Amino acid sequence: MDGAFEPTGTLLHRRHLQSLREVHVPSMGERGRQVTVGEAEFEEVPRAAPIASGANEIGAAKVRAPLELPPMQPSTQGLARVVAVTNQKGGVGKTTTVINLAATLAASGQRVLVVDLDAQGNCATGLGIDKARVDLTTRDLLLNPERAAECRYATRIPTLHVVVGDRRLVAVEDAIVSDLGRESRLAEGLAPLLPHYDLVLIDTPPNLGVLAINALCAADGVLVPVQTEYFALEGLAMLLSTVEQVRRRLNPGLGVDGVLMTMHAPTLLNQQVAGLLREHLGDVVVEPPIRRNIRLAEATSRGEPIHVHAPKSNGGQDHLAVANALSARWGLTRGPEA
Ligand SMILES: Nc1ncnc2c1ncn2[C@@H]1O[C@H](COP(=O)(O)OP(=O)(O)OP(=O)(O)O)[C@@H](O)[C@H]1O
Ligand SMILES: [Mg+2]
Repeated sequence: MDGAFEPTGTLLHRRHLQSLREVHVPSMGERGRQVTVGEAEFEEVPRAAPIASGANEIGAAKVRAPLELPPMQPSTQGLARVVAVTNQKGGVGKTTTVINLAATLAASGQRVLVVDLDAQGNCATGLGIDKARVDLTTRDLLLNPERAAECRYATRIPTLHVVVGDRRLVAVEDAIVSDLGRESRLAEGLAPLLPHYDLVLIDTPPNLGVLAINALCAADGVLVPVQTEYFALEGLAMLLSTVEQVRRRLNPGLGVDGVLMTMHAPTLLNQQVAGLLREHLGDVVVEPPIRRNIRLAEATSRGEPIHVHAPKSNGGQDHLAVANALSARWGLTRGPEA
């Protein structure tokens, strides 16, 4: 347990759980019965004096609709499974997940395409691509979907291709925001590529702008990395509400393929949040959690996936196990070997 962190973390956690009291997230195994996220017991933290009464109850939960967890849908025969790795919360491990999952699965022979929808463009760097030498990017894929095939770049792994994101994506949001069909540009661009891959992994920016919505419209499912800490739950509730809206209006087949716990450490707070996620989301939670491991940050900065940089590290082992678990979940023909 991390003694310095625990008191604040627990207080925030209790308050947050209250705010989620009426947000209902049925687990895969309990669909049909609504369960309440906010009922878990947490240790009381002693306080000097009781808080003064009389404050207005804002009650965020009261303005939120109950959430259903849309189930994962099967892949279409002969077409790549398209997965948006998404969470509007920044720095939760989206890009690290995309890079290492894509590389691990491609190294085992799966045909994988990474599409970087984030202007930070870290997928290219993490997969050893020199962005200065890239001409066509995700920007071109979105603005000229008919040129999709030319937007792909090869990596050191023969069955792994990347559509590179970079700063130019910022202007794309403005360029397409008032267009008819602006949400489906990515789906349009990817369509002719799908027969040529087993898996398309889309890295998304840390906001829910038009680019992230394009990812949700193009995807069969979302994979949601969450850090096992207090704000993770709030981000997850918001994202699931967005998924529900996209399902209703734009992409009825969108499901939740998994919630992946990242940067997991053996603190009390991390364990409590992991327990809560497992309890209420059931099989949707991908096991094992990815432990916090400096080797993962190191690998990305060197342009190497973790299975090359440090396969025996905690990060390497966890990503291998997660790649195997997701490979089975997605029905990919064979998973990576240890
Ligand atoms: N399991 C881990 N252990 C240690 N560091 C990690 C781990 N996963 C990711 N990191 C580091 O945390 C930082 C944030 O990770 P990453 O860039 O993957 O998050 P992100 O969700 O894509 O962020 P953004 O929202 O800005 O796009 C990076 O420096 C990354 O190297
Ligand atoms: Mg990122």
